[in-house]
Amino acid sequence: MPSPEPSAGMPPCVLEDMPPPPAGMPLIVDFENVTKTYDAGTPRAFTSITDINFKVEDRPKIGEFVGVLGPSGCGKSTVLRLIAGLAPHFPQTMGKVFVNEQPVQGPGPDRGFVFQDYSNFPNRTVIDNVAFGLECAHVEEKERKAKAMEWIQKVGLDAKRDGLKYPHQLSGGMNQRVAIARTLIMQPKIILMDEPFGALDPTTRQSMQDLLVSLWRELEATVFFVTHDIAEAVYLSDRMYIFSPSPGTIRHQLKITPADRPARQMQAERSFQESVLAVRDILEKLELEKAALAAKGSPK
Ligand SMILES: Nc1ncnc2c1ncn2[C@@H]1O[C@H](COP(=O)(O)OP(=O)(O)OP(=O)(O)O)[C@@H](O)[C@H]1O
Ligand SMILES: [Mg+2]
Repeated sequence: MPSPEPSAGMPPCVLEDMPPPPAGMPLIVDFENVTKTYDAGTPRAFTSITDINFKVEDRPKIGEFVGVLGPSGCGKSTVLRLIAGLAPHFPQTMGKVFVNEQPVQGPGPDRGFVFQDYSNFPNRTVIDNVAFGLECAHVEEKERKAKAMEWIQKVGLDAKRDGLKYPHQLSGGMNQRVAIARTLIMQPKIILMDEPFGALDPTTRQSMQDLLVSLWRELEATVFFVTHDIAEAVYLSDRMYIFSPSPGTIRHQLKITPADRPARQMQAERSFQESVLAVRDILEKLELEKAALAAKGSPK
């Protein structure tokens, strides 16, 4: 069955090269010639990313969705963890990483991280998991519980029915909703998501994509989102960074039509599927490059 065109008034999904930000624009994240080498100076030295350069403008009250794609092992998680200030990826070996125009010194409440694996505390109820950050910030109990209940509803769970459950009593999708609520309740300016929907079935995944778009609009944050799912990246991203094989560097910076309609609707359109094919083409070429590099011997 031929895929439909977007309904009247809706822009088709288009990929373009990303123009550099206008000079003097405030930046929320800025990588300048960033390289990470583990065990530098020893025979085990391994360079995971090399000479990474990108600039994401600060767009207060709008934010931006930045998709990150590339072959396995090219350094996507390394880049996210450098933004978050998380060891052992942080600090970088060379170059500079700025958040809000300040060099990253370590983790901070302006950046929230959602991991692929269910990172909820097993011995805390849903409410206490979601309220964890507020508890660390010494927000008093009544207020933090009320806020947690509000966020549990926002991520599509039932605060009354699910609030007192423990993580082992939840499905994978529910656990990931709790992890998202736990991060977003702190209203970070930057949300870092490393394959957050990797373990979910396709239907749950699409509803999580819609949920994420609506929450992100509300928070007006900048989201960095790593995924191996090309359709997910094309749907969610305003901008996409595609990495080369290891040692990773950014090979393509693309600008993409924003997700302005539900995932199910947009993903059925022809222009969307053509964009997915174009990105798949790029990634397949990178996989071939990775295989050729491996055949020649590991890169230094
Ligand atoms: N602590 C460490 N010590 C040594 N090498 C590491 C360490 N952490 C990561 N690496 C290496 O750095 C490279 C990049 O890792 P990273 O996890 O950033 O890749 P990735 O793109 O996120 O991969 P994937 O898609 O499989 O998650 C990999 O080759 C990995 O083995
Ligand atoms: Mg990774």
